Amino acid sequence: MAAHSLLRTVLLALTLVVLSTAFSNPLPCTGECIDTHDPSLIRRTSDGTYFRFATGGGISIHTAPSITGPWKTAGEVLPSGSKINNPGADDAWAPDVHYVGGTYYLYYAVSTFGTQTSAIGVATSTSMDAGTWTDHGSTSVTSTTGDDYNAIDPNLIQVSGKNYLTFGSFWGDLYQTTLSSNLESWSQSTPYRIELNSTSPQPSEGAYVYHTGSYYYLFFSSGSCCGYDTSRPAPGDEYKIMVCRSTTVTGGYVDRNGQACTNSGGTLVLGSHGVVYGPGGQGVYDDIVEGSVLYYHYVDTNIGYADGDKVLGINKIDWSTGWPVV
Ligand SMILES: *[C@@H]1O[C@H](CO)[C@@H](O)[C@H](O)[C@H]1NC(C)=O
Repeated sequence: MAAHSLLRTVLLALTLVVLSTAFSNPLPCTGECIDTHDPSLIRRTSDGTYFRFATGGGISIHTAPSITGPWKTAGEVLPSGSKINNPGADDAWAPDVHYVGGTYYLYYAVSTFGTQTSAIGVATSTSMDAGTWTDHGSTSVTSTTGDDYNAIDPNLIQVSGKNYLTFGSFWGDLYQTTLSSNLESWSQSTPYRIELNSTSPQPSEGAYVYHTGSYYYLFFSSGSCCGYDTSRPAPGDEYKIMVCRSTTVTGGYVDRNGQACTNSGGTLVLGSHGVVYGPGGQGVYDDIVEGSVLYYHYVDTNIGYADGDKVLGINKIDWSTGWPVV
């Protein structure tokens, strides 16, 4: 073998090693880490207890003394379903929790798989314990067949006194609007698109906008989320976590190559690797112990591919390059 072709072989081997170890494994999670589709995490200010909310039923609640556990079941946010009078009211999706002025606001979606009959609702509590939540029903951010967007997967971010709500999935991908100052109702301002993957089936959803340094980072889940136990998409088309960034919350968001997120841009943050398959439904949280973390659900291929098997994943984020690296 000529020296240059040996060198090429060695470089190729090194590249493969680097690619296959590009993502860290999730931090070890203890207690009840399964059944955590589309998690939302927050630490209660009064006593330091961590709360985790997840898709399904009346939005499950788990609590733990640390972000990695041990997690235990702690009831539901909406034990008798949402007040929203849509199909799916007893199976709420994609919780997004925030602490504002002494109250915890939990946004959720009511829809059914594959339809645009959808609405974003909100519930509030001052402690987050089961039995203390008040459901306020629909925010009036809704969608119906034929609309440009699908009103699911809400995410709130407050910027300069305005309450931006990012939402959406498929059907035009990710949109943004604002809520009024009470945080419970739509401002009536027309939603605008902040991300579109023009490749069919326009598979973006689960947005989470996070501000650090000079940028707003738009995290989203791209690909096929669910039902991997009955049919799995072509490799690479399963859920993965992408990001774009912008100096203003309203856009324009671009990826690491400068490609606009509204023009199919997006930089991969976390994809399938090792026993981790289809990571998505993510959020970002500044933990007092672990620092800035990406939290998400994933299939552990040693556990199972069903939606109810999804495991809580937490990875520390390295922001040193100006882009999130896990
Ligand atoms: C856009 O969609 C295609 C087809 O599903 C997918 O291969 C690609 O990774 C997506 N791009 C982004 C930025 O999500």
